[in-house]
Amino acid sequence: MNDCTFIILGATGDLAKRKLIPALYHLIKDKKIDKFLVVGAALEQVTADEFLERGRSFIPLIDEEIWQQLKQVTYYHQLDFHDATGFNKLTHFVESLEKESKRPSNRLVYLAVPSVFFCEITRKLGTCGLVKKSDDHGFVNDVWHRIVYEKPFGVSLKSAQEINACITKYFNEKQIYRIDHYLTKELVGSILLVRFTNMIFEPLWNSTYIQKIEIELSETLGIESRGRYYDHYGVLKDMVQNHILQLLALIAMELPEELIEKYIRNQKAALLKKVRCIQGVLGQYEGYTSEKDMPKDSITPTFAQLIFNVETPRWKGVPFYIKTGKALEKKDTSIHITFKEVACKLRDRCIYSSNVLTIQIAPEASFSLQLNTKKPGALYEVTPVNLFFSHNYVFGTNTPEAYEVLLEQVINGEQAVSVRFDEIEYSWVIIEQIEKMNLPLYHYKQGSSGPK
Ligand code: BG6
Repeated sequence: MNDCTFIILGATGDLAKRKLIPALYHLIKDKKIDKFLVVGAALEQVTADEFLERGRSFIPLIDEEIWQQLKQVTYYHQLDFHDATGFNKLTHFVESLEKESKRPSNRLVYLAVPSVFFCEITRKLGTCGLVKKSDDHGFVNDVWHRIVYEKPFGVSLKSAQEINACITKYFNEKQIYRIDHYLTKELVGSILLVRFTNMIFEPLWNSTYIQKIEIELSETLGIESRGRYYDHYGVLKDMVQNHILQLLALIAMELPEELIEKYIRNQKAALLKKVRCIQGVLGQYEGYTSEKDMPKDSITPTFAQLIFNVETPRWKGVPFYIKTGKALEKKDTSIHITFKEVACKLRDRCIYSSNVLTIQIAPEASFSLQLNTKKPGALYEVTPVNLFFSHNYVFGTNTPEAYEVLLEQVINGEQAVSVRFDEIEYSWVIIEQIEKMNLPLYHYKQGSSGPK
């Protein structure tokens, strides 16, 4: 069932070259898929080789043999998203490739385009029959057709609702994937397991024992060639609405009835309903407005530092600090859970540190737990030390990249990678609440830690 045709709409864009082509290469390398075809489609007139070559530099230590295998199954079709006949031609193109290569017409269509095009493209895909509406089990006769919508889903609550109403007219929920690649990162996947399966954490995961929670998604990269996309979204819609709120939901949600998707989503949605931003600042890196395709007077934020409250009994009074930004001094994707200090009973002067559990997602997938121990040579003096777990050291360095896992899961029909629409709605409510706060915008130097 994993033989399929993988169709990328928006094939000449940043996402395709940076993430999707490398993910396809790795799926072949790791022998995750047997037979498949790749069809790239976009407005630009390029050859299949040219389309593929753009992704090459994003694959470290490329194996030529694997690359050639990918090349042999890759095609390109020029397509104007506004042209209905273009979609008919694309459908015939795909059908004839599938026929020639004698494979079942399982299809995965990936919309690597901004969400303003989602409805129009969906309508055309549905009308031309490239993607057919499935039954409630996700099947179209004896094959599957699935459609992936890249985040962010919409630009506001209203637009997200309009898009959702539009796409659910054409397709069954079983074939719709509103994805967030953070959910397929190895260490994000372990958040719930770490929380709920360890006696040293599960009973302490609440405001009686936790002082604060910090979530940081800092990047060194600036906007690069994504100016036209990014300036319409900015950091709140590009990172906070999806990746950050999904992490927050996993960290803070209540225990699901079972660790299965339906219950996890119920709890994430219930949690997101209770999140409020209480304070924050925004930033824009110096030089942002001189980037390619950028309006000179843009006030789009590339940085946000926010404080959230989660209005549930479990988190009463615990601040959630969020920091995310582009062109910062380091890449750091981490969650820090700081526990309260132990009551000072043993001595008159208590200079203990708090215990801190750090879940680092990137650059190094790891956990560390800061504990207090005795300072060498000193009688009863305390010093903090770190217990450290490196994912690669323990499990090997072959951990697949998030997009590879994501594609594999969609091909396998695993809806865990898809964010349910109510979660998306609650997340937009939070973003709109932040927008109404009119937070101040400061400039910051590239390579710094953000606005002073
Ligand atoms: C994407 C954002 O969803 O995530 C990008 O659109 C951002 O702006 C990227 O750079 C970060 O993902 P990762 O996996 O590199 O942390």
